Amino acid sequence: MISNPVIDSLMSRKSIRKYREEQPSDEVIETIVRAGQQAPFAMQLGSVLLSREIEHNVFRAPLLFTICVDVYRMEKIMKKRGWNRKASDIYTLLFGIQDAAYMAQNMVVAAESLGLGSCYIGAAPFMTKKIRELYELPDRIFPLVMMTMGYPAEAPPVRPRYPMDFHLSESRYTCYTDDTVSEAAEVMDSGYLRQNYYREANYMIPLPEGTEEKFDFDSYSWTEHISRKLGLWGEDPEELLSNLKLCGFEI
Ligand SMILES: Cc1cc2nc3c(=O)[nH]c(=O)nc-3n(C[C@H](O)[C@H](O)[C@H](O)COP(=O)(O)O)c2cc1C
Repeated sequence: MISNPVIDSLMSRKSIRKYREEQPSDEVIETIVRAGQQAPFAMQLGSVLLSREIEHNVFRAPLLFTICVDVYRMEKIMKKRGWNRKASDIYTLLFGIQDAAYMAQNMVVAAESLGLGSCYIGAAPFMTKKIRELYELPDRIFPLVMMTMGYPAEAPPVRPRYPMDFHLSESRYTCYTDDTVSEAAEVMDSGYLRQNYYREANYMIPLPEGTEEKFDFDSYSWTEHISRKLGLWGEDPEELLSNLKLCGFEI
């Protein structure tokens, strides 16, 4: 693989969940947010909220960003120009999620280049009421994801990824055989086991009462964890729809 400063930075990034207390300067924060803005956009439908209240922030991070799908501003601009929206909310959301996500990831990369670490926190869509109240959000803004950020107080290893032949298809999608699936799962599981990821976190998703636990920290790894996450934690789709509605989106 080719190496250069940008590639090296992308390849060495890892989520940081422990932070020093030191507050990044305004200049550092502005640089990161400005670099986020410069990501490709469909309609600039992403905006950013910031909390520097370290004692309230997830992981006691000096910075907590909440990345939003923000249709409010665009509609203000349209209104000024005498236009009403004809586009559906599923359309604006699909493109808004992309605008917000590419912007957020630019922030992650910019932060990394300035010596800061970060970690996404996926709970925002389930916390819309609280976030709306906290930041006094008007309608048409949906909190998509949060992101902790600050100077790292830990140096975890780079986490494993699927092998390339399980990830990239050329010309026609690769329909993976059982063997290829097993090989990819093995790469992920052995990688996380080598790093003692779940042992250090001291966490396995518990099985329903009455089900025998056959895993321990020598065998519980990423594919079991993610399978349990998706197989056991059935969130209520109505909750997400009603949270979208609360934010003024009609799906
Ligand atoms: C949308 C999204 C939501 C996430 N939510 C959480 C979270 O709630 N808590 C957490 O500790 N990490 C969270 N993460 C971080 C992932 O766990 C992490 O990126 C993944 O395990 C790969 O590790 P790495 O970033 O160190 O390569 C999230 C990442 C994404 C992209």
